[in-house]
Amino acid sequence: MNQPEALALYIHWPFCLAKCPYCDFNSHVRERIPQTRFAAALRRELAFEAARLGPRPLASIFFGGGTPSLMAPETVAVLIEDARGYFDALPNIEITLEANPTSVELGKLESFRHAGINRLSLGVQALDDSALRFLGRQHSATQALAALEFARATFPRLSFDLIYARPGQTLPAWQVELHRALSLAADHLSLYQLTIEPGTAFEALHRNGTLVLPDEDTATALYDATAEAASEAGLLAYEISNYAAPGAESRHNLAYWRYNDYAGIGPGAHGRISLGGALWTTRRHRAPEPWAERVECLGHGTTAEEPVPPRDRAREALLMGLRLAEGIELHRFETRTGIPMRDAVDADILDAAQEAGYLTLSATHLTATADGRRRLDALLARLVQ
Ligand SMILES: C[S@@+](CC[C@H](N)C(=O)[O-])C[C@H]1O[C@@H](n2cnc3c(N)ncnc32)[C@H](O)[C@@H]1O
Ligand code: SF4
Repeated sequence: MNQPEALALYIHWPFCLAKCPYCDFNSHVRERIPQTRFAAALRRELAFEAARLGPRPLASIFFGGGTPSLMAPETVAVLIEDARGYFDALPNIEITLEANPTSVELGKLESFRHAGINRLSLGVQALDDSALRFLGRQHSATQALAALEFARATFPRLSFDLIYARPGQTLPAWQVELHRALSLAADHLSLYQLTIEPGTAFEALHRNGTLVLPDEDTATALYDATAEAASEAGLLAYEISNYAAPGAESRHNLAYWRYNDYAGIGPGAHGRISLGGALWTTRRHRAPEPWAERVECLGHGTTAEEPVPPRDRAREALLMGLRLAEGIELHRFETRTGIPMRDAVDADILDAAQEAGYLTLSATHLTATADGRRRLDALLARLVQ
């Protein structure tokens, strides 16, 4: 029998101190976070999923949110312990927690390290107070800097997030902020261009013209300057918004982009798991309390669990894999999706995109060039069959 694929395990914590006006993640504000209830429900759903999946190598765990740094460190510790008990943790297992740099969380960082977190992803978002206020953040730049300094001394691996291409942000202003960020960075950064997401407070402001994003030329100039400065500092754009020193890439996120197996625990989490010769998609109930109620009754909060048909696998693998600078390995693509690459893409569009310098197809890989990654959504819309 084939050895099962290594697993990337995602655990979702759905609560935040406040809802940021740009954010459409599954995050919710409660007067009091039901810590005990959600700790128990997450443990229970993890046990359920582990029984379904059976023993397999465990490559990474990622506590995402919401704001998982609002979890009790004991909850993080016990979930890691459970996961290590159910699966065979690889010796170099990566265990990441997303943290916000507010004072509530700062005092807990050391406890998260003791709980087994070996990589911290800090939501800095901006390095000056007026931008932080605009983004509705609950921390100041000084707090973020203090958190960064402490985290660098505490965790073996550290990344932080910034949001750029904010309204009115000029290229010189971003360059100053970016250089500062690069001087503070360890070996990984996530640098996101601000996007307007449906249902957010920013969407309403954008619609009525109060919030105006930089025009396309400015956004492209900001993106190019970002990649250039990061690469000069030794951090390569291994994915559209992610920059790392070679070897310091987020292994957990690479599992999504490489279309490897991952399981998702917690409200709204989803998974793609190979089991019994099929690739299964799972989705959990999105609203936190109804999810917890289902877990309490049924042992899990799954709302959908179905095999992913080959066409959908191919589409998903293309959508994810072309985000990566390394591109898509053709042999793996075919074994994972059941469809050879030449049948998964429109041949005419592929030719045209190669000629235009947006895609390269070698004997082993299909890769989007830097130019192609800049216009990936438009490219994919036409390329994928
Ligand atoms: C799950 S969220 C945040 C985790 C953590 N709660 C925080 O706020 O730092 C992951 C990241 O997505 C980015 N993000 C979320 N919404 C965005 C948007 N509309 N545009 C650009 N980046 C966004 C932010 O940088 C954020 O840190
Ligand atoms: S950006 Fe982070 S803190 Fe803000 S609402 Fe989204 S998940 Fe919560």
